[in-house]
Amino acid sequence: MTVLTSALDTAAPEYAARRAVMLDRIAEVDAEHAKALAGGGEKYVRRHRDRDKLLARERIELLLDADAPFLELSPLAAWGSDYTVGAAMVTGIGVVAGVECLITANDPTVRGGASNPWTLKKALRANEIAYANRLPCISLVESGGADLPSQKEIFIPGGALFRDLTRLSAAGIPTIAVVFGNSTAGGAYVPGMSDHVIMVEERSKVFLGGPPLVKMATGEDADDESLGGAAMHASVSGLADHVAVDEYDALRQARRVVARLNHRKAYPDPPLDGVRPPVYDAGELLGIVPEDLKVPFDPREVIARIVDGSDFDEFKPRYGSSLVTGWATLHGYPLGILANAQGVLFSAESQKAAQFIQLANQRDIPLLFLHNTTGYMVGTQYEQGGIIKHGAMMINAVANSRVPHLSVLVGASYGAGHYGMCGRAYDPRFLFAWPSAKSAVMGPGQLAGVLSIVARQSAAARGKPYDEEADAGLRAMVEQQIEAESLPMFLSGRLYDDGVIDPRDTRTVLGLCLSAIHTAPYEGARGGFGVFRM
Ligand code: COA
Repeated sequence: MTVLTSALDTAAPEYAARRAVMLDRIAEVDAEHAKALAGGGEKYVRRHRDRDKLLARERIELLLDADAPFLELSPLAAWGSDYTVGAAMVTGIGVVAGVECLITANDPTVRGGASNPWTLKKALRANEIAYANRLPCISLVESGGADLPSQKEIFIPGGALFRDLTRLSAAGIPTIAVVFGNSTAGGAYVPGMSDHVIMVEERSKVFLGGPPLVKMATGEDADDESLGGAAMHASVSGLADHVAVDEYDALRQARRVVARLNHRKAYPDPPLDGVRPPVYDAGELLGIVPEDLKVPFDPREVIARIVDGSDFDEFKPRYGSSLVTGWATLHGYPLGILANAQGVLFSAESQKAAQFIQLANQRDIPLLFLHNTTGYMVGTQYEQGGIIKHGAMMINAVANSRVPHLSVLVGASYGAGHYGMCGRAYDPRFLFAWPSAKSAVMGPGQLAGVLSIVARQSAAARGKPYDEEADAGLRAMVEQQIEAESLPMFLSGRLYDDGVIDPRDTRTVLGLCLSAIHTAPYEGARGGFGVFRM
């Protein structure tokens, strides 16, 4: 009875047009993903292979169970910066010996695997995910430590990396370091702070100071092996728990360590035989979002292609209809969904959202936010109707909700609407964007227009004539800049999401996230919200 019907006309020209634009955007994102895959480029990859070493992704592949999925996170980190796309590190969630783990791997082909400011942000985000979801954390280490020219950006905040490792351990979340090469200076604290350490014979180099530094500091002549080789650490210092003969052996041993962790998920997996796929084809997700985000679309068309059996039990469908709310399951996991319909959030939508979020908390049901909002409604009528306090109610509910949240930016995510819909600052467990998404304080046109009005008023106040020609130029320039800064690749580069995904993968990605989420126990807020201003 609650299976959604679809009004999507896949024979219509606008469907074809939307699909074509989406495919172009996916191709653009793929081209950027390819840059991350290429790491430091052909020369450094060849040199790495000539040294008989595995690439970061090959190490991950060998660590994971055969045919197990790997949900890569933040692959576009550092996009738009001076650093290589991917930020010299691969992070993601994968299954090792039947246990979902958070894996990080330095990419030694990119500037010796040295950590730049974006590597640090990416690593810290990975730690956050491991902590929130109680995922064992496996570090595949080979790094030149801090990227020295940018040390001022990373040295002080970088201490959090080691702090996180020991806090994970204190919380009973296992941490495992597998050292393939260099792990020196601060980097030595990755194995130093980990519960389990595996080193590779004649390859691992773990010391606070290498031979030149020791010579400078104390005058001692030392060699790599006696300062920090695997054999020394395994038999003398005691830093290594296991010695591997080569990289393959190290990965095998890491799998063995995970198999012995006795790490149990808080909740059993949902029974697979009860899970129905959506009734509608996921491929049709390509043709739903219009290129011009001012054109509304029905988010039920998206929901129908991601939830089990396309079955969506709508809550308050006739009230505050610009926000769709309702219950569903996804890969067998119960889920409350909030999805913007007409873009704008009014008072009724905000109150409906606050009520719905409280219900999910009473019932311990995770929430999924599908963003396509231009923000809360402005204007005299709405201000007088209390839009601020109603928006605040929704933001209060989101901020103090204690069930896990997932956010997917499918279209617009502007203004405080981004906050109310659980934007990045509201700590959703995971946040992904479709290539069609845009996020900023407001739309580029509006922002440029506001700036122009302010400049005009300022000129008038000073009794100066207003230069209309300069204004038109400035508006165009600002519009272009804001447009570029609101695109998903730009935002992903800055770690404002966990990745830009192909819409067709949405169900799979959310399913993997929900599985990870159910590793840690959670309980909704029964009270504990801020004061709801009525
Ligand atoms: N910061 C910035 N750039 C670094 C770097 C670092 N920490 N470590 C390496 N690089 C750069 C190198 O300058 C080189 O650049 P180039 O190819 O443009 O000349 C590139 O990364 C590759 O380094 P290279 O030394 O050729 O690679 P390698 O695989 O033979 O050795 C290391 C890798 C990490 C062992 C070696 O580069 C090294 O010892 N780096 C310094 C380590 C260090 O003391 N770090 C301080 C930690 S706080």
